Amino acid sequence: MPDYLAHPTPHAGGSIRVPGDKSISHRALMLGSIAEGITEARGFLESEDCLATMKAMRALGVRIEQTGAQEIRVHGVGLHGLKAAGHALDMGNSGTAMRLMTGLLSGQPFASELIGDASLMKRPMERAAAPLRLMGARIETLGGKPPVRISPTSDLHGIRYELPVASAQVKSSVLLAALYAQGATEVIEPAVTRDHTERMLVGFGCPVETAHGHVKLEPPARLDACSLEVPGDFSSAAFFLVAGSISRGGGLTIKGIGINPTRTGLLDILALMGADLRVINHRSAGAEPVADIEVRPAQLRGIEVPKHLVPLAIDEFPALFIAAACARGETLITGAEELRVKESDRIAVMAEGLAAMGVPCEVLPDGMRIHGRSIQGRTDDAVFSGGEIDSRGDHRIAMSFSVASLRAAAPIRIHDVANVATSFPDFPGVARAVGLNIESI
Ligand code: S3P
Repeated sequence: MPDYLAHPTPHAGGSIRVPGDKSISHRALMLGSIAEGITEARGFLESEDCLATMKAMRALGVRIEQTGAQEIRVHGVGLHGLKAAGHALDMGNSGTAMRLMTGLLSGQPFASELIGDASLMKRPMERAAAPLRLMGARIETLGGKPPVRISPTSDLHGIRYELPVASAQVKSSVLLAALYAQGATEVIEPAVTRDHTERMLVGFGCPVETAHGHVKLEPPARLDACSLEVPGDFSSAAFFLVAGSISRGGGLTIKGIGINPTRTGLLDILALMGADLRVINHRSAGAEPVADIEVRPAQLRGIEVPKHLVPLAIDEFPALFIAAACARGETLITGAEELRVKESDRIAVMAEGLAAMGVPCEVLPDGMRIHGRSIQGRTDDAVFSGGEIDSRGDHRIAMSFSVASLRAAAPIRIHDVANVATSFPDFPGVARAVGLNIESI
């Protein structure tokens, strides 16, 4: 299993782009596959997670061409054109792929089985299966976990469903099944979550009504292929927003990032911590807003993270914990129990890593208390001792501790980093372009 060796570096500076948005790339493949006509997507993320979805859609009979760097053409087969794969579909490390595919496949007239890697096989799938069963789907899990076995059904019906957890994956899974149901489906969210599925469905000609955490979809007769531009992934940019903030000098610009407000909670949290951020050049990529973000080093201060921002920053907590360690004073994160069921238990694994780096922190059932190690008024002190940490195969933990090298006293060796390729295949290269010194060993 490969490791990173992240050497201490004084500052990060320059201008970069990050690869395409993972959530949007999965959805482009799925909706493009069941649309009528050819969907083209530029900026598509060629990472292992999205390639797992691509492979699955191909196995279901869809022709997908990779026409250039980050460009795909999906030859849609129409809502009723998918064919049985004849083998289990391997969704790799991707919870999004597995939960969304469960919804998409639950209204098909053929059986399907979904499996994944060791991490995915341990993740909860009942949260998606339960509402789909209420719609008439026939789904089995193994004690709530994969494999997910879906029996053929052609008579799903719409439901009104109040999500027990704020989850865009579950919402999207229900909306994909709703395309095949009799009657309208309504989903009510306990807190706003990313709305890429709703926005993209509208682009494919399927009207979706949305208001205050309430989504309503009437099953369409068809979806029409469209042309999509995938913005840079805010969650990949997040590592550089933190890098630019904790750096001992320089300044960073990250260009062409998706700034959908259901994704940018980290901007609000960092701003509350005193970060020096500027969002400029606002534009749009189809249904999604895009901008460039400039970030300069700042003395961050510890805060109590407002709970309403948690779902809007759900993938950014590993990076935020690194920022909190560099802040002056204590940062308190609560209401984030969902972190325990991500690619790893991100509360436990980050706490273990922070402790190994000499950062005092207290694990809470639903979050963490982090005692920032910055000395009053100084941004040039080392915060992380250096040494070894285990990412437990979690891409975002590996990238977060790489960025910590900007404030490390000695090299940080990060174990088990192969899964960085699930979301950000050339992370070390992009990081090197702004002055970080990350060796793959
Ligand atoms: C995602 C939703 C979130 C997020 C994941 C991607 C999506 O998961 O953590 O990385 O693309 O819908 P949950 O729905 O479990 O919160």
